Amino acid sequence: MRPLSNFSNRDVEALLHPTTNLASHRVQGPLVLERGEGVYVYDASGKRYIEGLAGLWCTGLGYGNAELVEAAREQMSRLSFSHLFGGRSHEPAIALAEKIKAIAPCPTSKVFFTSSGSEANDTQVKLAWYYNNARGQPKRKKFIGRIRGYHGTTVATASLSGLPIFHADFDLPMARVLHTDCPHYGKFAEPGESEEEYSTRLARNLEELIEREGPETVAAFIAEPVMGAGGVLIPPKTYFEKVQTVLSRHGIAFIADEVICGFGRTGSWWGSETYGIAPDSVTMAKAVTSAYVPMGALTVPEQVYQVLVEASTKHGVMAHGFTYSGHPLACAVALKTIEIYERIDIVAHVQRVAPIFQLRLKALADHPLVGEARSVGLIGALELMRDKRGKQSFDGKLGVGAKATRFAEEEGLICRAVAGDSVALCPPLIIDGAEINAMFDALSRALDKTHAWAKAEGYLA
Ligand SMILES: Cc1ncc(COP(=O)(O)O)c(C=O)c1O
Repeated sequence: MRPLSNFSNRDVEALLHPTTNLASHRVQGPLVLERGEGVYVYDASGKRYIEGLAGLWCTGLGYGNAELVEAAREQMSRLSFSHLFGGRSHEPAIALAEKIKAIAPCPTSKVFFTSSGSEANDTQVKLAWYYNNARGQPKRKKFIGRIRGYHGTTVATASLSGLPIFHADFDLPMARVLHTDCPHYGKFAEPGESEEEYSTRLARNLEELIEREGPETVAAFIAEPVMGAGGVLIPPKTYFEKVQTVLSRHGIAFIADEVICGFGRTGSWWGSETYGIAPDSVTMAKAVTSAYVPMGALTVPEQVYQVLVEASTKHGVMAHGFTYSGHPLACAVALKTIEIYERIDIVAHVQRVAPIFQLRLKALADHPLVGEARSVGLIGALELMRDKRGKQSFDGKLGVGAKATRFAEEEGLICRAVAGDSVALCPPLIIDGAEINAMFDALSRALDKTHAWAKAEGYLA
């Protein structure tokens, strides 16, 4: 339990926390952070932690970056707000759209801005529907997501997500959303099945689903190159290649959700590059501003844009957008963030330090509590299991993953349990080798404590 402070009572009495166990939060209280510097954050008592999840997979440049602060200050004093409705515009939005067009991993005609990944994916759904109506294919409306995928929490994006907890009692998923297999080779492969064979089977299942539903009713497939919230699941060999072949055969768009993978996370600018995906459109958010300001965006291909333009002659306006679509502050900070990524060559940096990250993560695969270690670039997870040889998971109700993250906090590391008992790591992209080692030293101590606790509780096989 965290020490209950004055903050705790105020927090518990005033805040409804997102994606939080509200019952245990009343007992445990909050972890109240006060400031950050580099890859470190400090709590209200002054204790220092390595931010091992980059906030929520987002603070690429870490904390306290003076250039980003100055870019924000400068923009706020020059023009604190202007919108993009009805043809209004401003220079930071134009420049950022040009920049994203230049670096996107797919041919891009236009860029649409939002304030979050959820809004951007929600916009993907709405634009796909609108586009298919406008081009005379009104039946082509279904979206295919994946079991354990995560795309946000609005009505549409929680539906696209394939995590039951985001559906239960919210009356989701909504109609016209389908889910295909989760590409977790370690968990779902048949005995003796190779990664390639497993990918072939998943692509075949996807094709069967499309044929059952009627290919002419499916608008798009959406996938994260590496699933984040679903457990940091690395795609098996040849998976995306085979999935893409199926989609192309049926004229179904591929939307790459790059909200976590974009901007260097997997060791390339985009997860799509790492995995040879040629998407029709990408969604981005999080690291686009290094999370200094909320921002999301999606790319629009030329053929879609042309149809949207034509539709305006019918409707008058394309009636979609947010007050803060292309907020000047967010655009200015995103431009500066991308400028810094390019100047310091963040991708080369990730490639340089990722081997240390991978080595240390893989070494923990030998820990008695760790059933599987997964990673690429600077993102990874350790899946905790009650029986590592027999690959038996813990009963989710025991909260073993959550307990491990509590012990990690004691050891000065913030990380996150996702999809049950997978302890995820996704540090700021600027992390150096010594900091990576310190992060894994803390995690290793936390795992030892978790193991001792699980043994004492009789939770191990
Ligand atoms: C892959 C992915 N897509 C979309 C989202 C939703 O983004 P936001 O929380 O900014 O709405 C997230 C958030 O974690 C994500 O990981």
